[in-house]
Amino acid sequence: MRVLIRKDYEEMSKTAAKIVADLIRRKPNCVLGLATGSTPIGMYEELIRMHKEEGLDFSQVVTFNLDEYYGLPPDHPQSYRYFMDEHLFKHINIKPENTHVPDGTVPIDRIDEYCRRYEEMIKEAGGIDLQVLGIGRDGHIAFNEPGSSLSSRTRLVALDEQTRKDNSRFFKSIDEVPRAAITMGVGTILEARCCMLLASGEGKAEVVAKAIEGPVTSQITASALQLHPNVIVILDEAAASKLERKDYYLYTERMFEELGKPLV
Ligand code: PGA
Repeated sequence: MRVLIRKDYEEMSKTAAKIVADLIRRKPNCVLGLATGSTPIGMYEELIRMHKEEGLDFSQVVTFNLDEYYGLPPDHPQSYRYFMDEHLFKHINIKPENTHVPDGTVPIDRIDEYCRRYEEMIKEAGGIDLQVLGIGRDGHIAFNEPGSSLSSRTRLVALDEQTRKDNSRFFKSIDEVPRAAITMGVGTILEARCCMLLASGEGKAEVVAKAIEGPVTSQITASALQLHPNVIVILDEAAASKLERKDYYLYTERMFEELGKPLV
């Protein structure tokens, strides 16, 4: 794992956006795996700026989102499709048909087939080149709550109470937070060629330390990233504050810089 520690949220976001932009310039038809939540918003803002000011071209980029609340239609203000349109897609020149967010309105009797199809579409697009990830306070990546199989695939899941509480800040009350979601599985995520995990703030410090430096366990599904050969973790100082090997990560990045071989 390449762990990059930045001074604050803004620097974390800029570092992440640069990695995405470098990939798009290198491979204009790349496939991005995207995430919602508060954490990637700064990265999306920086990508929009790069599009507007530097001509970063999304015309051939294909995207697949990690998850969607089950039961929310795409035009619901708290749906992840709506989030992506508002925070990224409508501000850049991506083709709407190249953007994929799981459909939260699929009838329950068709959901397994729909989830299989979502996975097939990822494969048909050539697989995900770079998967952006946040981490929940219970250690989840996407909506893979504690106990999810580390080989899990795209499926319908029940949301943990902690997650519903954390996400209730976006809803009028916790009762409005959906109880289920469609999510890529841990196994699906691990198939991306590169995974990039972002975390910011003290509230994430403990779970970040467990995910990166603790044992691999289905109780913290982000820890499965330790099994992936190509992972970039970008943290701000606050989210990195409980890492035991923080000095080593800082030293590694500095040393690679001195050697003239960028770490990412
Ligand atoms: P956050 O959510 O970015 O809003 O903290 C992360 C997550 O739950 O995966």
